[in-house]
Amino acid sequence: MDENIDVLLSETRSFPPPDAFARDAHINTDAIYRLADKDYEAYWASAAGSLEWMAPWKTVLEWTPPHSKWFVGGKLNVSANCVDRHIRTPNRNKAAIIWEGENGDRRTLTYWDLYREVQQFANVLKGLGVQKGDRVGIYLPLIPECAVAMLACARIGAIHSVVFGGFSPDSLRDRMNDAEAKVLITADGGYRRGQVVPLKRNVDKALVEAPTVKHVVVVQRRQGGFSDLFTEMKPGRDAWYHELMATAKADCPPAAMDAEDVLFILYTSGTTGKPKGIVHTTGGYLTGAATSTKIVFDLKDSDVFWCTADVGWITGHTYLVYGPLANGATCVMYEGAPDWPQRNRFWEICERHGVTILYTAPTAIRAFMKWGDEHPAKHDLSRLRLLGSVGEPINPEAWMWYHEHIGGKRCPIVDTWWQTETGSIVISPLPGLTATKPGSGTKALPGYFAELLDSTAVRIPVGGGLLALTKPWPSMLRTIWNDDARYVQTYFTKWNNRPDIYFPGDGAKRDDDQYFWILGRVDDVLNVAGHRIGTMEVESALVEHHAVAEAAVVGKTHEVKGQAIAAFVTLREGFTQSAALRDELKKFVANKIGALARPDDILFSADLPKTRSGKIMRRLLRDIAEGRALGDTTTLADPGVVSALKSQYEEKEG
Ligand code: WT7
Repeated sequence: MDENIDVLLSETRSFPPPDAFARDAHINTDAIYRLADKDYEAYWASAAGSLEWMAPWKTVLEWTPPHSKWFVGGKLNVSANCVDRHIRTPNRNKAAIIWEGENGDRRTLTYWDLYREVQQFANVLKGLGVQKGDRVGIYLPLIPECAVAMLACARIGAIHSVVFGGFSPDSLRDRMNDAEAKVLITADGGYRRGQVVPLKRNVDKALVEAPTVKHVVVVQRRQGGFSDLFTEMKPGRDAWYHELMATAKADCPPAAMDAEDVLFILYTSGTTGKPKGIVHTTGGYLTGAATSTKIVFDLKDSDVFWCTADVGWITGHTYLVYGPLANGATCVMYEGAPDWPQRNRFWEICERHGVTILYTAPTAIRAFMKWGDEHPAKHDLSRLRLLGSVGEPINPEAWMWYHEHIGGKRCPIVDTWWQTETGSIVISPLPGLTATKPGSGTKALPGYFAELLDSTAVRIPVGGGLLALTKPWPSMLRTIWNDDARYVQTYFTKWNNRPDIYFPGDGAKRDDDQYFWILGRVDDVLNVAGHRIGTMEVESALVEHHAVAEAAVVGKTHEVKGQAIAAFVTLREGFTQSAALRDELKKFVANKIGALARPDDILFSADLPKTRSGKIMRRLLRDIAEGRALGDTTTLADPGVVSALKSQYEEKEG
């Protein structure tokens, strides 16, 4: 089957790094690419050398496709690298985590504070019988104890599995059972949009059918606890974090871990099927996390780095905890929603803490655009020097808005493509070197090898096709927990003649400058009259219209064309839906990218169905457009959105 993808949208704006930024950047010449291309094992060995090892490795890479081992024979400890190293420098009392609760609570933990808390909590875990290789579940609101718990596990060689606090008791139960977790760390509650999420109550429900969990440690989220939230402590099983910490010994030496020991399992939310337990190991993962944080974000000692992701996602693991802490950085951590209590909350936080680097998602950026320019305009954002985007393709219009209204036209933007599976950023500009183009992740970072291939693994120099990673990299997943066959099947069988090439599942295009443009998941690609069209291009064309805040397009069976395009559109504040606007938008897309991409249907909607990490669930939109019964909606952030859309669609059709 032909899997090439047509290229419709052309974006010609280009933004070279500002001179002053380039001058002071860690990387401002392309020598690093040449070095890494020439000998990628040597490049990664030198990157790993900036970590602290307890014993040197013997072999940089053992690659027996599709399984890789990095820094074989080396010993290190991740918590020692993220905490103890900085205690021996003048940074010992530097802020490591500046935290804000949604309700206004604030705490700052220095590296010294972390050093004490991590060791004490590691001793608490040991006291509960946790040993090297045991699995520990973490189900917390976004509070500093997330980092403490992760690092404490790493310190004693326990494998953590963080479950996002927004997930249901059933999702938690399935993950704890698959990982066979022994201990679960949770809180009485956490704040989200002014409501208290009853985490401990969810845990009690989940554990009815999760027999491996023997102990639950409960953090009191608010001083004095939630009087409005009855938390029953089950004797013998449950204990309060603060009580256990009060009697825990201060000193816990870091365990010497093998570079290939498992550091964590993280379940991908996935839009279909059973969640996959993505397995990451110690030496390679930390090398990828630390190096990419430093070079992609041009991270300096003086920076205040805010990655807005929750630790329930890989972005939070790599760029809120391990990457920044390995570099001794100051991180901002915020528990709650961007519009609580007001729509300026993010900008207030940036101003209050002097955030210099902001890393967030297109879904958030499009929400900010929809809410209006006046909210960021009220705040002093002049400390910002670099912006980042992750999670989805960023439409050029959203990129331009971010550039102007948040970055004051002076901050480079790094559009970073990667996955839970890749562990660290793979495709991204280097902000002091790469000229950026709105909507493009530009090129693979040094030491990563991305290509565009057709279905027979032939390289496509310019045009649309399948994204592929052709060489192993240190932070790649090693397997799927308990299911290596699924690992091989999912990632390494796309090209029968090349069982060594990793298939991420995304379509992409490459332009004349060899820049990559991610077109979306291959499963979502539209096929209109034989033309394969990436969802991203039609959506970006729609978002370019001044009335549109967000758009999602799907294919709908069509007698003649095979598929017709159905578009779901959210309007910016101040615009109202009408038949005239619907026609105008159809014409607008046709003019912009061609008549074949003209949507047949446009449905206006106040909201789009999204996963809890903010990805649009096109599968559900396809069900609606085809008039089918709705599939599984349990992983949706707001299930109400879909039923509303469905009845609206039926009304329109009827
Ligand atoms: C999928 C991975 C990477 C951490 C957060 C998501 C999409 C991610 C981009 C980007 C276009 C992107 C891809 C990828 N994606 N970043 N900058 N441009 N698409 O991790 O949940 O594992 O999702 O997100 O489709 O395959 P994830």
